[in-house]
Amino acid sequence: MENNLKNKILKLKKEKEALILAHYYQRPEIQDIADAVGDSYYLSKVAKDCDENIIVFCGVKFMAESAKILSPEKTVLLPTFDAGCPMADMADPNDVLALKKKHPNAKVVCYINSSTEVKAVSDVCCTSSNAVNIINNLDADEIIFLPDKNLGEYVQQQVKNKKIILWSGFCITHKKVSAEEIIKAKKLHPDIKVLVHPECEKPVRDLADFLGSTGQIIDFVNNSDNKKFLISTEEGVLHQIKLKNPDKEFYVPSGGMVCVNMKKTNLNSVYESLLNMEYAIEIDEDIRKKAYRALINMHELGGK
Ligand code: 13P
Ligand code: SF4
Repeated sequence: MENNLKNKILKLKKEKEALILAHYYQRPEIQDIADAVGDSYYLSKVAKDCDENIIVFCGVKFMAESAKILSPEKTVLLPTFDAGCPMADMADPNDVLALKKKHPNAKVVCYINSSTEVKAVSDVCCTSSNAVNIINNLDADEIIFLPDKNLGEYVQQQVKNKKIILWSGFCITHKKVSAEEIIKAKKLHPDIKVLVHPECEKPVRDLADFLGSTGQIIDFVNNSDNKKFLISTEEGVLHQIKLKNPDKEFYVPSGGMVCVNMKKTNLNSVYESLLNMEYAIEIDEDIRKKAYRALINMHELGGK
């Protein structure tokens, strides 16, 4: 049944000359049919540079919107129209403009997990894989960083010579893990390496052996000789990690870290999406042009 649906998707994808992109938090079966699987920075690069005219973005809305902002001539489809990111909804462009007024010399750096409208009033975007680089390379001593307070705090710890004005947004999925759980796991498995996404809160980040984006966490495991890992980010990353590291052991925080919005996309919705060309992302051209500047600045300042 599942294979049948997978074959139908792959046939339709070929007929329509479409490209399927999947974030690491997607269901394993979605990652398996994708042309590219990656973290949000990598996927935004693939979407920007690909030749296909149709992109099916298996992720959440801000990711599909970012692809459309970068390539307005392409049709970008989000298979599940209500796959949003609650953190992205925690910043409003009017509030950003009001804060900018209070800090006229500050530049605004917005996490890619933000709406197109917020990107449009920002100077540059970043992702968790390039935030430190971007802020180091940015020509400003004062930075308004939004919406993720945790990522902003993490950047501030790395970049001592700039002042970061934080927002109060957070990710409900990454907030679930507690420092107590990490301490317990370290006691039970003294040889475990704890890998943490910077969206986690400070007490958890402070216990990490490595902090990085989803892609960087996966690379860390692939390149490590260690045998045991606690993965403190959304569980979807385990699919690629286990495929490449069958001889290593993986642990996750006990409550589970699942992003319900990422899991809304399934094989059926991807098939329907390609068949009916839904849900096509549409963006007002004036706002898109402003948001484009912030995303392109990220690609210019962010490096590899
Ligand atoms: P990455 O940039 O690490 O892919 O993370 C995206 C995200 O939504 C994390 O919650
Ligand atoms: Fe948004 Fe958190 Fe889901 Fe990432 S894991 S998409 S930040 S809600």
